[in-house]
Amino acid sequence: MKILVTGGTGFIGSHTVVELQQKGFDVVVVDNFSNSNPEVLDNIEKISGIRPEFEAFDLIDQTRTSAFFKKHYELQGVIHFAAFKAVGESVQKPLTYYRNNLQSLMNILDGMRENNIPNLVFSSSCTVYGQPDDLPVKETSPIKKAWSPYGNTKQISEDIITDTITAYVGIRAIALRYFNPIGAHDSALIGELPLGVPNNLMPFITQTAIGLRPQLSVFGSDYNTHDGTAIRDYIHVVDLAQAHVVAVERMIGKISEKSFEVFNLGTGNGLSVLDVINSFEKTSGQKLNYILVDRRPGDVEQVWADTSFANEVLGWKAVKTVDEMTSSAWNWEQALSKRK
Ligand code: UD1
Repeated sequence: MKILVTGGTGFIGSHTVVELQQKGFDVVVVDNFSNSNPEVLDNIEKISGIRPEFEAFDLIDQTRTSAFFKKHYELQGVIHFAAFKAVGESVQKPLTYYRNNLQSLMNILDGMRENNIPNLVFSSSCTVYGQPDDLPVKETSPIKKAWSPYGNTKQISEDIITDTITAYVGIRAIALRYFNPIGAHDSALIGELPLGVPNNLMPFITQTAIGLRPQLSVFGSDYNTHDGTAIRDYIHVVDLAQAHVVAVERMIGKISEKSFEVFNLGTGNGLSVLDVINSFEKTSGQKLNYILVDRRPGDVEQVWADTSFANEVLGWKAVKTVDEMTSSAWNWEQALSKRK
């Protein structure tokens, strides 16, 4: 059973490739290394003992994508990760984000349609909920106007998928709305590889601890939360990757009659920025240099998932603790610095 993983050398993609291989799937990866590098393929092979089939090209190239699908008509499913994901950058370069994230999805859907490839798992995000009126947030919670072009590409992508599968019977899709994936594989061979200065909290913490950044700024300490810092639902990337395998198995096994399903992927627990820092300091034994500064524009105060739908319907549950998230992220950062 062969699955295409787009963005398979990226952070979540690489972990998902390993989990798929360990479940016996054949995997073909497409990536243009825009936010990763070829060494990730070597490290996937070190973990699983299998080198995934690989093609390097940009999925916004329609001719190339169409030729790829023609060649791989036997695919049973596609897990589509390849996308730009920096919220701030998307505000600076909206057209780059819309073009990249939407054109690649449309090319993939065309390829699936033309070659009768039935199953799509799409990387969506909790960003589609904005600041929800009620917490925890359910899949049925209202979709709010997106706060950034990046968030808007996720909303529009879900619409493109639903319209496409309505028009073309034969394609089914699952959208997985991620909360905040952090951590790394236990082997410390794969993890997050931010380009330049990280935007996200966890890589900024580990890069500060290892001396690549002088100080972490904690954005906002006057939120209406238990310690004043913003709350998110952090989830271990390996738990998240495993949910993709379950989603693929659900579609291939035709366990559901529905042609489109949406699941929240989180732990169901909200943690503040200071909770994550405290866990990091405990598991690493490092004192982190941080200061409290103003809120970051565009940040919501708090969001965490109601995961009961994914738990019951997918039979999947995130099991790793925040200490496992921070310790694995720290092991990965240290391993990375030794390899440089
Ligand atoms: C955002 C997006 C999410 C996207 C993710 C990946 C929203 C609501 N969320 O998550 O959809 O998938 O980025 O790029 O748009 N923080 C600091 N200091 C830092 C960095 C972060 O205090 O140096 C704080 C933030 O203010 C926030 C928390 O840490 O409260 C998490 O931030 P981050 O890791 O950037 O993720 P989100 O913004 O939640």
